Parts: sequence; C-alpha cells; structure tokens
Amino acid sequence: MARLSVNVDHVATLRQARGIDEPDPVWAAVLAEKAGADGIIVHLREDRRHIQDRDLRVLKQVVKGKLNMEMAATEEMITIAGQVGPDLCTLVPEKRQELTTEGGLEVAGSLDKITDVVGRLQGAGIVVSLFIDPSSEQIKAAHQSGARVVELHTGTYCDAKDEEARQRHLQALEDAARLAHRLGLEVAAGHGLNLTNVLPLLSMPEIVEYSIGHSIVARAVFVGFEQAVGEMLALVRTAATERPAEPPKRRL
Ligand code: PXP
Repeated sequence: MARLSVNVDHVATLRQARGIDEPDPVWAAVLAEKAGADGIIVHLREDRRHIQDRDLRVLKQVVKGKLNMEMAATEEMITIAGQVGPDLCTLVPEKRQELTTEGGLEVAGSLDKITDVVGRLQGAGIVVSLFIDPSSEQIKAAHQSGARVVELHTGTYCDAKDEEARQRHLQALEDAARLAHRLGLEVAAGHGLNLTNVLPLLSMPEIVEYSIGHSIVARAVFVGFEQAVGEMLALVRTAATERPAEPPKRRL
C-alpha cells in the first residue's frame, strides 16, 4: 500500500492573490489528514510566493503525520529547517522566474555541496529526500550523497505530447525506481500527477509514496478538499508496494 502526501502550496497561492488570511493552507492540511493523507508537503520558496514562514511553523504544531518541507539547498532554508524541524526535507532546484519546479535537482554535478547539506539536515534529525530526474546518473549520485529518499520527477512524463514519449518516460521512471530501490533508497514520485496519469505508476511496486498538490487543490474547488484527497487516496491505496509502508508518525 503506497502513501499519499498532499502538497497544500496552492491553497496559499489563492490566499496570497488577495493578500489576506484565507484560504488557510493549515486548514487544508487538517482536512487532508482527516481524509486519510499520510503527510503534508509545503514548499517554502525563497520569494515566499505562496507558503509563508508562519504556515510552516503552524503546520509543525498541527500536522499529525509526516511534514515534508520542500526547499532549495540554501543557508536560509537550512537554518529555517533546523529551527522548525519538519520530519523530512525535500531538496529541489529553484529559479525565481519559474511557474513551478522545473526539472530535478542536479545532484551528480554538485555532489559535494548536496552531500554537505544532506549531512547537516540528517544530522539535525531530518530525513532528506532529493527531487531528481529519473536518470541512473542522478540516482547513483543521490545514493552517494547519503540521502535516504529520492522523489522521482514525474513532470516530463505528465507533459509528454504523444504516446511514444509517454511510454518512454514511463519506462525511464520504472528503471529509475528499480535502481533506486536496489540501492536501498526509498522511492517517492511527484509533480504533475492527477487522477488519470497516476494510474500507470501504481503498478511500479518500488514507489511507496506519491506527492501530489495542484490537481488535488484544483479538484477541491469543485468537490471540496476532503473528497478531492479521498479520491486520490483511493487510487494510491491500490498500489502494491514491494516494502511495507512505514506507519505515519503520530504525535500525541
Ligand atoms: N514534488 C515536488 C518536488 C514539487 O516541487 C511539487 C510541486 O510543488 C510537487 C511534488 C507537486 O506537484 P503538483 O503540484 O504538480 O502535484
């Protein structure tokens, strides 16, 4: 049984569009957990375009499952992660002008720096996940860095323009998931996934977690947050995983 972690960034995007205090991503996180989500993800971007520092701090108090902070590997973010103490940090590349994260982290080309950041975060008791493209080079580098988890970037697969490209990207994801699992890395997948394009991934037993945001928030506008999470969760729960999923951590 695979896990679902829900990214609530775009609830904050809607709030920031008005510059007021609603809708609150914390409320969305509560509803996502009520619907059964295993974890909550937020990306604290350098430009604070959606999630704010306050959101991360309140979520740390409120979230009962796993709180995953997506972040660029910068000194500012390492300091904040150390202060707040999320369960996981996912290192992602970040560019100011991008609409959303474009492509995976270049781990192979900056192995010394990533290894240092992974060591500092894991030394502070935070599990580190690296968001990478499904390539053997990046997976081997992720393994060398000491990170415990890789999140395979599914965006290229989701954006494929024809069936041939879609199949090619799916194959790359399958090969990558197998290699990462063989190296002892936990495998997650995310970016651009929705109720339809997630289906072929569910038969890849190495993928134990899905990180999904935009499609859930978009659907929630019409059916409500709990139902939108519940629909995705019903699919994710049908995935047969190769290793037993860890039970979500519950704080009393
Ligand atoms: N995983 C990572 C590393 C991301 O950066 C994002 C987007 O913030 C997601 C997953 C979720 O992608 P989406 O919002 O397209 O579901």
